[in-house]
Amino acid sequence: MIKFYVKTYGCQMNVRDSGLVKALLMQHGYTAVDTEEQADLIIINTCSVRGKAEDKALGKLRLMTITKKNNPARMVGAIGCMVQRLGESIFDNVPLLDFAVGPNRITAIPGIIDAIKAGQGPICDVGLDKGSEEELSAHAESGISAFVNILFGCNRRCTYCIVPSVRGAEWSRPAKSIVDEIKVLAENGIKEVTLLGQSVMAYGKRNDVFPEDYKSPHGYMEPLSRLLEEVNDIKSIKRIRFTSGHPSGCTAELAQAMGELAKICAHMHLPVQSGSDAILKRMRRGYTVAEYKAAVLRLRDVMPSIAITSDVIVGFPGETDQDFEMTQALMNEIDFNNTFIFKYSTRPGTPAAEWEDDITDEEKMRRNQILLKNQDDRANAISNALVGQTVTILVEGVSARNEDRWMGRTEANTITVFENDGTVQVGDLIKIHVNRATIFTLYGKIVK
Ligand code: 5AD
Ligand code: SF4
Repeated sequence: MIKFYVKTYGCQMNVRDSGLVKALLMQHGYTAVDTEEQADLIIINTCSVRGKAEDKALGKLRLMTITKKNNPARMVGAIGCMVQRLGESIFDNVPLLDFAVGPNRITAIPGIIDAIKAGQGPICDVGLDKGSEEELSAHAESGISAFVNILFGCNRRCTYCIVPSVRGAEWSRPAKSIVDEIKVLAENGIKEVTLLGQSVMAYGKRNDVFPEDYKSPHGYMEPLSRLLEEVNDIKSIKRIRFTSGHPSGCTAELAQAMGELAKICAHMHLPVQSGSDAILKRMRRGYTVAEYKAAVLRLRDVMPSIAITSDVIVGFPGETDQDFEMTQALMNEIDFNNTFIFKYSTRPGTPAAEWEDDITDEEKMRRNQILLKNQDDRANAISNALVGQTVTILVEGVSARNEDRWMGRTEANTITVFENDGTVQVGDLIKIHVNRATIFTLYGKIVK
């Protein structure tokens, strides 16, 4: 019986890919273990989005392969975006690696491991063939929440971004496969699904995902709205999320669907990246600040309490103090619930890599700190404004920090802690009266 451990860096797509590997390996008779020390097979799922992410993954891989010296039977594999970017040259960086598999080839991993056991290693596979819909639908979740891929790859050409070159061209899964997959998840106790795509609103734009004569009950014409409507109809699913958004996809129809379909959470992750039109243009984001604001307004029109979260990059080549101040001002104006703030990192082969990385690391750090502090102040205020209010949460179970308490999440994904009087079960949607708040956590009582 081979024991395996998967360590994941990077985004939610990587979390889903790791889940898929786990499910496929378990189908093949392998056993998942909780620590790398116990494992005969260690898989590191890597990210390429910033230089630091790659450094971390490379460091971990080297460390893991060194442990093979005391344990020669141990196998170490790398998967994910960094593998796709480096190809065979990853073996120069990590000589003792057994296999390197790109994000499109996850379904090939059990076969690759068999080949290595048969003495055919090391193996590198960075091909593009994803495998069958059936293989791609495998899950191994134990909680109430699952990620579901709906769209692979990315056709946007943001000038700083490595993703299009590592994850390939956009391809949307047929709606029926997705709905079937979620029905199986629902039968297995999943209550909340997050539909995933690098640019999720491009779902169904490049290839057909519904039959030509498909009729949407609400009369929706856009593939994403139609898919959301279908998922909304799956009985025991209680909540639907989808990520990541782009302002161009926040159409009137999508806003309408978000208002009409009761299970869609009032939350949207809508990366803005910058508040300066000049920078947005050089980033090739495909929208202006005014267009971004208009997209947010369309969403807030139908869901006034919608939580908007975002990503911002500081120190993009040529970012002036003025550009930076515009970002700061926009973040305040939108009043983001949360923002991930990143220091620009040059990625080899991207268009922006041709430009001088002219903002010093100290200056990037300074800008980062300012935005972080502003964001914390905003998040604190937003959190505290909920004291005295009632929120609806999906119950996840006993709190990790305090076994006497239970926790769940609001639609905005805010952790909410409460005392369970014995009436509440995992997977219930319940109302909580909030009586205390910290920046990222709410505390309250069950509303009867
Ligand atoms: N440097 C810094 N941050 C980046 N991101 C993507 N590429 C880079 C880069 N080269 C950020 C963006 C994106 C998030 C996932 O990572 O903000 O939305
Ligand atoms: Fe990292 Fe982007 Fe790959 Fe996700 S898609 S793992 S963020 S490089």
